[in-house]
Amino acid sequence: MGSIEVSKIDSVEQLRDLPKGLSFFDPLIGHEVKEALESGGETYLSKDPNGVTNGLFIYDNYEVTGTIFTSSREVFDYFYKLKPSSYIFSELDVPELPKQVWNIWQLDVDKAQADYSFKHRVVIESDVAEIERFMALAQLETNKRWISVALKNGDRCFVVKIAGRIVGMAWMTIVGDVARSHGLFVARRFRRMGMMMDNYHARLLYLKARHVHTLVNEIAEDNVASASLAAKEGEKVVGKIFLYTSPG
Ligand SMILES: CC(C)(COP(=O)(O)OP(=O)(O)OC[C@H]1O[C@@H](n2cnc3c(N)ncnc32)[C@H](O)[C@@H]1OP(=O)(O)O)[C@@H](O)C(=O)NCCC(=O)NCCS
Repeated sequence: MGSIEVSKIDSVEQLRDLPKGLSFFDPLIGHEVKEALESGGETYLSKDPNGVTNGLFIYDNYEVTGTIFTSSREVFDYFYKLKPSSYIFSELDVPELPKQVWNIWQLDVDKAQADYSFKHRVVIESDVAEIERFMALAQLETNKRWISVALKNGDRCFVVKIAGRIVGMAWMTIVGDVARSHGLFVARRFRRMGMMMDNYHARLLYLKARHVHTLVNEIAEDNVASASLAAKEGEKVVGKIFLYTSPG
């Protein structure tokens, strides 16, 4: 294994020694690990020869997707090879590997545009079966166990419904004064009707009420629709994260 020591962890308390600066997503890592473990996922820590934690790997076996948090190429290589034929996100840019580039967008919530007229009613959904039904259409690969775990851990699922059925959704994780949006999806025939814009502004109102100052989200560089929406709302690109496919 070379000069790194890797251990599998089974509780979020074992992240105590996690150094700051490991990732742009530092404030959210504990939350993500807790949800991953509770949803049946795996988490590994790596240490350098001095016993200093230099990497973290979160992996979901159902979604065959993981994230490597490290600035060390050796640590990246170890985790990258650990789970063959998987989708692996990392902020580490490995020049020779094929990858899809995702931008990390950020919004200063306090400066966000406040005047807004809603066209659709946005609600916070907590019915697991309803969420599951929509996510099965939107993101077939979602680990269903994650939905109830996320709700239990305080994640909020903002939806727009038509005739009682969810047609648009966005998840939001909040840790302290930082929030992350993810899982944005509007059913194809309801797109370009302002539903996600309404959903966005509902989330903004919620964030302001909770005194959250920063909203982040990752968008694939070639996702014109999502990037246009983020830019229109005043979000700025503040970093990059790369999506690799592990060999196998
Ligand atoms: C991205 C997505 C959620 C947008 O939802 P939507 O309800 O259609 O978006 P809205 O109607 O609220 O659009 C708001 C603004 O976003 C931008 N936008 C939305 N779709 C766009 C498109 N296809 N091309 C360019 N800009 C687009 C526009 O600025 C639009 O404002 P306008 O219609 O006044 O010009 C939707 O296209 C979708 O579900 N895509 C597939 C999943 C996905 O990519 N999710 C995001 C992952 S990061």
